[in-house]
Amino acid sequence: MPRRILVTGATGTVGGATMRLLKPDADAGRIELLGAARSAESAERLTRHGFSPVTFDFDAPSTMRPALEGVDAVFLLTGYSVDMLVHSKRLLDAAKAEGVGHIVHLGALAADDTPFAHFAWHQLVERATEAMGFSWTHLRPNFFMDTVWNGFVQRPDRIVHFVGGRRVSWISSDDMAAVAAESLRNPAPHAGKTYPLAVEALTFAEVAAILSEVTERPVEYRPRPASDLFPIMQKMGAEPLYAASLAEGVAATERGEMPLADAVFDTVEKVTGRPGIGWREFALKRKAELAS
Ligand SMILES: NC(=O)c1ccc[n+]([C@@H]2O[C@H](COP(=O)([O-])OP(=O)(O)OC[C@H]3O[C@@H](n4cnc5c(N)ncnc54)[C@H](OP(=O)(O)O)[C@@H]3O)[C@@H](O)[C@H]2O)c1
Repeated sequence: MPRRILVTGATGTVGGATMRLLKPDADAGRIELLGAARSAESAERLTRHGFSPVTFDFDAPSTMRPALEGVDAVFLLTGYSVDMLVHSKRLLDAAKAEGVGHIVHLGALAADDTPFAHFAWHQLVERATEAMGFSWTHLRPNFFMDTVWNGFVQRPDRIVHFVGGRRVSWISSDDMAAVAAESLRNPAPHAGKTYPLAVEALTFAEVAAILSEVTERPVEYRPRPASDLFPIMQKMGAEPLYAASLAEGVAATERGEMPLADAVFDTVEKVTGRPGIGWREFALKRKAELAS
């Protein structure tokens, strides 16, 4: 019987990249791959890309046990909201009841004694996963290249951020997905491991210079004060508790008071056998999106 893997957040940035990486294994019958879909539109999107969707909604706990039936390993990925706590608890309870063996959790990079809420919440999910007796792999990524890229695609002459001239460390969804996919396919060597994920440390001005070089047009970094972030996120409709924590973390980074803000690690190379993807390679791979 092939191992059955459920990817939550399968229509999102990291979950979507993980689905794409695991697809050849599913097509070859080495694994059975299920992508969580909370709506008919999400299910349709997954089907269109050749994936098998399963109905799964963190806000509808009754969907969880059926989706987890017979599942061996889960990629647990939650959104940018304090709901991540109750969503994770519900998934872990349902997974326990269905006999799931291994949980790969997408958290965030921070010191173990971090005072910032959203990092602390991720660490509480890690502790709960361990205490419930699952086999586990904790992923702790730092800044996503994809988040900046998605904004850049909308306005390809600038990038805007709130950490001033601080150097921060970066990871792409492709690298997160590669480490997640390895840990889901073959959990044994990755069980009990916490994987910090950040391959390159650059200031936003340095990122803008790379984008300028790769796209062959001027790209400017427009720094804004960290105090602007919360009101902007409020205007965009972000969930306030998560947004407030994110804004505090960004302000601490701007002041140079965030431990590990610019830390880099060889996790990707150790787990996948190939070097991690830096900003230049990432931008070259995505450049075609600008033309479209
Ligand atoms: N951005 C960063 O720099 C950064 C850094 C470190 C860690 N992180 C962590 O990364 C995580 C987010 O990852 P991401 O950017 O890949 O997420 P994302 O692109 O925003 O995708 C979110 C996914 O969750 C699904 N979802 C939302 N609500 C749901 C519900 N009620 N039930 C089931 N599925 C639901 C969405 O499905 P639909 O398509 O149906 O909406 C989508 O597939 C967060 O935990 C964050 O803390 C981010």
